[in-house]
Amino acid sequence: MTDQEKWNRIYSQKKDPGPSNPLLQKYAFLFPEQATTLDLACGLGGNSLYLAQLGCEVTAWDISSVALEKLTAAANKLNLNINTNCLDVRAASFEGKHFDLIIVNYYLDRNLAQALVRALNPSGILFYQTFVQKTADTNKQTGPKNPAYLLEQNELLKLFTDLSPRVFLDLQSTGDTGQGLRNESLLIAEKV
Ligand SMILES: C[S@@+](CC[C@H](N)C(=O)[O-])C[C@H]1O[C@@H](n2cnc3c(N)ncnc32)[C@H](O)[C@@H]1O
Repeated sequence: MTDQEKWNRIYSQKKDPGPSNPLLQKYAFLFPEQATTLDLACGLGGNSLYLAQLGCEVTAWDISSVALEKLTAAANKLNLNINTNCLDVRAASFEGKHFDLIIVNYYLDRNLAQALVRALNPSGILFYQTFVQKTADTNKQTGPKNPAYLLEQNELLKLFTDLSPRVFLDLQSTGDTGQGLRNESLLIAEKV
C-alpha cells in the first residue's frame, strides 16, 4: 500500500476536522496579520480553518486527496477559501514558494528543515509541534511508534538554528508530568 493509500484509508473513516491546536490558538498573537500561510501535512485541516477564520491566506498541503476533499467541503460550509494541494511533499516542493507563516503539526520530515527556512519570508514565523521519542511515563503515548517520526530531545532547536526561537517547549519528564505539554515538543521561531 502506498503512503497515499494508507492516509486516504484513514481519512475515509473520519468526518469533520477536529478543533485547531490549542497552542496554535494561544500563540496566534505572534503571527503576522493576514499572513500568507502554509499548513504542511494539514490532514483534515482544523488548523487551516482556524487560520483562515483569523484572516490568513491559507495554502494546505497533504498527500491525502480524501483529507483535502473533506477540508474543501468544510471550508465551503464556512464560506472560507483554502488553497489545497495534494502532493507528496519534498524539499523541491518549496521551490519558488514563500510564506509569512508555516504550520507543521504532527508531521516530521527532517529533510524539509532547510526548505522550510528558505520558504519563510523575512519576519516569517514557523510553528512546529510534534511528538517526541522520550515520553513522560505518566501520560498515555499517542502518535507514531517509529523513532524516525519522533523528535529527539531539543531537536526542533537543532533543526532550525537559522531561526530565532520565540517559544520552545520540550518538557520531557521534568517536574509534575500531569501538567504542561508532554510527549510533544513545540517551537515557534522567527526568521530575522
Ligand atoms: C498525523 S497527521 C497530522 C495532520 C494534521 N497536521 C493535524 O495536526 O491534524 C499526518 C499527516 O501527514 C500527511 N502526510 C504523510 N506523508 C506525507 C507526505 N509525504 N506529503 C504530504 N503529506 C503527508 C498525512 O496524510 C496526514 O494528514
